[in-house]
Parts: sequence; C-alpha cells; structure tokens
Amino acid sequence: RTVYLNGQYLPEEEASVSIFDRGFVMGDAVYEVTSVLGGKILEFDGHVARLNRSLAELEIVCDISREEWLEIHRELIKRNDLDEGMIYLQVSRGNAGDRDFHYPPAGTPPTVVLYTQSKPGLADDPKAQKGITVISVPDLRWHRRDIKTVQLLYASMVKMAAEKAGKQDAWFVEDGFVTEGSSNNVYIVKDGKIITRQLSNDILHGITRASLLKYAAEAQMEIVERPFTVAEAQAADEAFFTSASAFVMPVVEVDGVALGSGKPGPVSLRLREIYLDESV
Ligand code: PDD
Repeated sequence: RTVYLNGQYLPEEEASVSIFDRGFVMGDAVYEVTSVLGGKILEFDGHVARLNRSLAELEIVCDISREEWLEIHRELIKRNDLDEGMIYLQVSRGNAGDRDFHYPPAGTPPTVVLYTQSKPGLADDPKAQKGITVISVPDLRWHRRDIKTVQLLYASMVKMAAEKAGKQDAWFVEDGFVTEGSSNNVYIVKDGKIITRQLSNDILHGITRASLLKYAAEAQMEIVERPFTVAEAQAADEAFFTSASAFVMPVVEVDGVALGSGKPGPVSLRLREIYLDESV
C-alpha cells in the first residue's frame, strides 16, 4: 500500500512518525474517515469542513487547502487502485520534542497522515439486511465530542464490552438520554417520524447525519431533533445509525429487547437506499 506522510507518497513500511509526536504521546490529533465507492469519494467537502473545524477548535495549524486535500485523496485512490473502501486522514500537532503539556511553539509543523483501506463489498454489507444489536453504556467521554479527536479508547472499550456480551455495538447514555453510538449517530423511528438528538457539543456532528436528514426532508419524511431514552428506543418501530463507513445501518435490538418486528424496518432500509443513491 502507498500511504501519504507529510507531503510524500511512500510504501507503508517506509512511513514512520517520531516517538515524540504529540499524536502518540498526548492523543493530540484529529481525524476523518471518508468512504470511497466505485473509486468516488463520498462527502468530501463535508469531511474537509469538519476537519478544519476540529483543527481550529484545537488551534492546530495545518495550511493544506481543500484542493490539496482533494489531490491527495485522488492520488491515493489512484496509486492503490481503490474501488471500495475508506480513506483515513489524521493530523496531529506534530513532534514537540520532550514531553510538555503546553502546545509547542508556533511554526511546529503538524504531522499529516493519510492511508486507504480496501473494503470490497462495503455498500452491500450483509449486516444491513440483518440489522445489528446494541447494548447501552454510560457515556463517560469528555464533553467536546463535537471535535473529532483520535482519543477513542472509551469507544474501543465499549465495542469490546458489546462483543463480550455477544452484541455488535454500544449506545452511549448520559443523564438518561442516548447521546450517540460508539462510532455513529443514532435515530429511532416512531409512527413514521425520524427522531434523532439535536446537534451540540455532546455528539459528533456526523457528515452522514447532515446529508441523510437533508435527503429525508426532501422525501417529505418528518424529522424531530430531540434526545430519546433507551426505553423509548425499545418501544420504537425501528432504529438505525449513520456513519461514513456504514452509511445507514438498521438496529434491531437494544439491551436485549427486539425493536418492532426484530428485523430492519422499512424506513431504515429506504433511507439506506436513498443515502447510497444520492451520495454516490
Ligand atoms: N466515526 N459519532 C461518533 C462518535 C463517530 O465516531 C462517528 C464517525 C459518527 C458519525 O460521523 P460521520 O457520519 O461523519 O462518519 C458519529 C467514524 C466513521 C470512525 O471513527 O470510524
């Protein structure tokens, strides 16, 4: 695989980053995951806009323009002959020398890494036809979930907890309400209405979420942006989640309780189809 590191395209074996890099020592880095279907990049502008927002919130200076990002994405797709899969992008605050909590001096170059991950069959994931099962867990993450940082340890812990419980993912719950999924935004469907938590610093502002809500509104579907509880989800007709890597994924069970028929619901499946039609 050919990867990108700080302006260079390199074989992955030759791409290495300093042990002093703040991404490594402090988790001081932001990232994006963007899907590629049929060689086409999905939601490119949305991901670049959110990346720039994450960088600005953390005062990481990275002066790569939209056109340069696009060029890097296209070049990686070409060099790796990527048809279906993902592009992972990470920008850390760079190599700051000896460990220090304070940010390094202005002018310290960030570390920019991009690589492709091939996932043939990504759009035809059989999980979408079966639906996935989730457990709920307390949301113990920090309170700036709107910034897409690489600090994903708790998300990993809860995905492992779900796996140990024989389930496939976890939903975070805070103050009695579901915030989001471990790596996705969540929705329930009740009496034809799509209910999803409103945007705030409590959740990541999903790029897939923004597009999906736009397409749903265009299809005359009713959307209500408000928090919901696990009990409400268990009593809902359907549930699903969205993310750049899974698009729209039906959820059929929450904490052992089957939703509706226990199979992916018609609204979820229709939204998946609409999303894939519109965004590719
Ligand atoms: N995760 N919420 C969280 C906590 C996420 O990590 C993600 C994305 C989302 C959905 O955002 P988007 O639609 O922009 O992908 C919501 C990515 C895919 C990941 O970490 O792999």
